[in-house]
Amino acid sequence: MNRRDFLRLAAVTVATSAVPLAGCGDTSSAAPLSTDPADVARVFPQGIASGDPTWESVVLWTRVEGAASGDRIGYEIALDEAFTQVVARGEASTDADRDHTVKIKPVGLSPYTTYWYRFVGLGVASPVGRTRTAPEPGQDVPVRFAFASCQDFVGRYFHSWRALVERHADDLDFVVHLGDYVYETDGDQDFQTPGEGRSITLPDGLALGEAQGSGRAAVTLADYRSLYRQYRNDEWLKRAHQLFPFVNIWDDHEFGNDCWQDHTTHFDEKQGDEKSTAQREAADRAWFENQPADVAYVEGASFPNDIRIYRGLRWGQHVEMFMIDDRFYRADHLVPEGPIDLEVGKFSANSSLGSRNFVLKSGFDAREEKARPSLLGAEQKQWLADGVRGSDATWKIIGSGVQLAQMAVDLSGFPLLPAQFRAEFYFSCDQWDGYRSERTDLLRSLSSVENLLAIAGDIHAFYAGELHVDFDAQAEPMAAEFVVAGISSASVQEITQATVDSSPTLSALGLGSLVGQFDTLLQSSNPHNRYARSMANGVAVMTVDRSNGVEVEFLQLDPKAVRSADWDGAVDVARFRVDAGSSRIRRV
Ligand SMILES: [Fe+2]
Repeated sequence: MNRRDFLRLAAVTVATSAVPLAGCGDTSSAAPLSTDPADVARVFPQGIASGDPTWESVVLWTRVEGAASGDRIGYEIALDEAFTQVVARGEASTDADRDHTVKIKPVGLSPYTTYWYRFVGLGVASPVGRTRTAPEPGQDVPVRFAFASCQDFVGRYFHSWRALVERHADDLDFVVHLGDYVYETDGDQDFQTPGEGRSITLPDGLALGEAQGSGRAAVTLADYRSLYRQYRNDEWLKRAHQLFPFVNIWDDHEFGNDCWQDHTTHFDEKQGDEKSTAQREAADRAWFENQPADVAYVEGASFPNDIRIYRGLRWGQHVEMFMIDDRFYRADHLVPEGPIDLEVGKFSANSSLGSRNFVLKSGFDAREEKARPSLLGAEQKQWLADGVRGSDATWKIIGSGVQLAQMAVDLSGFPLLPAQFRAEFYFSCDQWDGYRSERTDLLRSLSSVENLLAIAGDIHAFYAGELHVDFDAQAEPMAAEFVVAGISSASVQEITQATVDSSPTLSALGLGSLVGQFDTLLQSSNPHNRYARSMANGVAVMTVDRSNGVEVEFLQLDPKAVRSADWDGAVDVARFRVDAGSSRIRRV
C-alpha cells in the first residue's frame, strides 16, 4: 500500500476525518480503550457487519448503543487481524435519528483482498470483523458463496448459521441473504411457535386478532428497528456477519406477510385493503439502517422513491449476480382474498386459500393470461433482462426472494377426493406462479443466455429444479434453480400440515395424510423438479470451480433441531452439479 493508494481511501457515505483516531490502533495514543466483553456487549450489542463488496469497496456497519451526535465513532481497516498494517482509518458519527447505526463505504481498496475492520465508540473497541473485496471482472478465480433465507427468531434457534460457520469459516467469499431476515410478527399462529428464551418484543405493535391468536405485527419505525436489534443479537448470526460480507435483499416479512408494494395481507381483506404507506416506509428505513447494503436511501422521500434495493454483484470472471426485489413493485395477488371465487377454487371468504395458496390452476391460468400482473415492475424487468443478456460473466445468477419454478400440486389422480379437489393447483401464487406471463416473457427473453442460474428462498424447503419457458410443455430446460430452506422458519410441510389439521373441512377430506407425502406429490406434479425436501432447515453453498462447473451443497438440519437451544451438530448434506454449457442438474 503506497502513499498514493492510501490517500485514495475515503469513506463516502459519512463525513470522515483524516486525523488518526486516538486509541484506534494508534499506539502513541494515551486514550485507553476497553475490550472488556461486558463493555463490548453493552456498546456493540449487534456486533459488526460488512456487505455489498465490489473490487474497490465494501460497506462496513455497526450500531453503537447510546451514541449521540457529537460522539466520534472511529473505524480502522487493516490487512491483518492484529491491525499492524492499517490501510484506512477515519471517523463517522451517528445518533438516535438513525438508531445509532453507522454505515461507511471505504473506496480505493484492492481487489480480491481480505481485510479486517473494527470500530471504536464511547471508549470501547468493537469486535474485529473480516471481509473481502471482489475480484475484478477479468480475474479468473473460483467462487464460493452461501445463500440463506427465512430466519424466524420466535421459539427458534439459528443452528444453521453455526453449521455454515463450522464448515466454511475460511473458504467462503460472501453470503447472499434472500430475505425474511426478520419476521414482522411475534406470535402469528399460522407459522410461529413461541418458545422459552426466544421471544421478541415490539414497542408498539398491531394486534392480529382472533385469526392469529395473540400475535402482534410490527407497524411503527420503533417496531421495525427493534426487530433488527433483537435478531442481530443472536450469537451465530453475528458470527456469520463477522466472518463474511453479506449481500441482502428483502422478501415479504421485512415489511408484512405476503406483501405487495405498500400493502400487507394480515387480515385477508376482512378490514378492506391493507394499504399502509407509512408502515412500508418505516420498514424500508429500518432495513436501510441495519443492512450493510450499498443502496441509495432518500430520507423524507415517499414510497416507492425512498429506496431501491435491486442491484448487481460482480465477482470476477465467473459470477455476476442479479439481486431482484420481488415485493416493492409487484401487482396485487390476482385473486382477491375477500370473496368466495369457485372458478379459481376459492371456497371460503377472507382467506389466503384459493387466493394466494392452493389456487386452481385452470381457472387461474385463464384469468392470469388476460390480466398479466407484473412481479418486477417494468423498470426492474428491463434492468434484469438487459443485465443478464449483456453480462460477460461465465455464470449469470438471479437472486430472487421467491421461487421461479412452477410448483403445482396435482390431485387429479386421487379418486376419493371430492370432484372439485381432483384437479391441478398452484401451491402458492405468492411465488412466480402467480405472475406466470411475466415469467414466461422474462425466461423467453433469456433463453439464449448460456449458463443461467437462479437461487431463491421464501418457501421453507430445499428444492433443485430446472427452469422452462413453458413449464407445462417441458422442452429443454433453459436454467437451473436452487431453493434454500429457512435458517430456522417452520418448514413448508409443517406449515401445510398445521393448516390442514386446523381446518375441519380440509381434514375431513383426508388431505392430512396427503401432506405426509408432500415431496412425492410435488415431484410427480412437477417433472422439472430434481430434488425436494420440504421438511428441513438449513443453508446452501454454491461453488464455481476450476472447470467452471457449479456445485451446490444443501446443508440440511432436522426441523426439530432448530426448536431447541441445544444442537447435536447433525447435518445431512445433499450435493448437486450443473456443468458449464448445461442447465441439467445432477445429484453427486
Ligand atoms: Fe419465510
